[in-house]
Amino acid sequence: MGQEVADYRCMRVPLGRIVQAEDIAHGTLILARDLARLVTWRTIFVNGGSLTIPEGRRVMDRLRDKKALVIGSNTGIGREVCRLFALEGADIAVGDFGREEDGLSLLAELQQTGREVFPVAVDVRSEEQVKRAIDSAIERFGHLDILVNNAGVSGHQGPLAEETADEWAQVMDVNLRGVFFGMKHALPHMIGRGYGRVINTASQLAHKPSPFNASYCASKAGVVALTVSAAHEVGLSGVTVNAVCPGPTETPLWQTSGDDRWKAWKIDSLPMKRLGQPVEIAWAYVYLASDEASYCTGQSISPNGGDVMW
Ligand SMILES: NC(=O)c1ccc[n+]([C@@H]2O[C@H](COP(=O)([O-])OP(=O)(O)OC[C@H]3O[C@@H](n4cnc5c(N)ncnc54)[C@H](O)[C@@H]3O)[C@@H](O)[C@H]2O)c1
Repeated sequence: MGQEVADYRCMRVPLGRIVQAEDIAHGTLILARDLARLVTWRTIFVNGGSLTIPEGRRVMDRLRDKKALVIGSNTGIGREVCRLFALEGADIAVGDFGREEDGLSLLAELQQTGREVFPVAVDVRSEEQVKRAIDSAIERFGHLDILVNNAGVSGHQGPLAEETADEWAQVMDVNLRGVFFGMKHALPHMIGRGYGRVINTASQLAHKPSPFNASYCASKAGVVALTVSAAHEVGLSGVTVNAVCPGPTETPLWQTSGDDRWKAWKIDSLPMKRLGQPVEIAWAYVYLASDEASYCTGQSISPNGGDVMW
């Protein structure tokens, strides 16, 4: 290996040096000791911190050097998507509105992977801001391979007749119009390159709408319809457009979705009788963003504890 290549690789390892045979020997020694008697079925990485892997998972470089923009990145599902994308080798622009502290801690975490990451402030209610976020990702990375439209808010919970026009508009503006803006400004670039992966976050409520949640359910059903329409439109271009439809997932948004009685009922009605964890949802995005998903477009992938089955 030439010196230049070796130096470049070291820059991507947080500890800043290549692993030596001695380092590996130390790792082996640890596993051989009595202290490790309860450690089994585990992979130990002696890698200078270049990858930090979720417990028990393997990464396979599925997104090596891909350039991604994740909008709605700082907490919950979006945050896990960013973590897995970085672990799988992607460079990421993280876009969000508010939640600055979460954004800073996310950036620090992602930088540990050695990937290139940078923040963009974007309120998806503004077409101009969404366009600027996409343009700055393209400018910084040279191009954009993956766009995740994940920003979402919960809506009015109660009788439909009591929802105000402003409440309705707030949910539609973030959950549906924001997705439209993202696709509107990313698709021409992706079509021009003949490659792209767009992943929109919908909800299992798109397929199984619940009462007293009209605007949220309608917005998410809209995201699925928008996804299918766009996927059909760009089918020949090398760009795929898919949706992820999560079930109830333990995130800040879940905290604001319904009262405790409703939440208990919802969990009990699930075949798996538990909430999903954000990372369990995020793997679906990794698949859809990967080259392995090249024949998958216009689909809704539903990690939902079995809430909707078809
Ligand atoms: N948690 C669930 O049970 C569940 C179920 C189905 C679908 N979803 C969807 O998953 C997505 C992520 O939600 P989550 O559960 O991780 O909750 P979350 O609140 O942790 O994440 C929502 C993200 O969207 C961002 N956001 C909100 N308004 C924005 C705006 N105007 N501009 C830019 N960013 C904005 C937030 O800052 C946050 O980072 C949402 O689209 C949500 O509707 C969640």
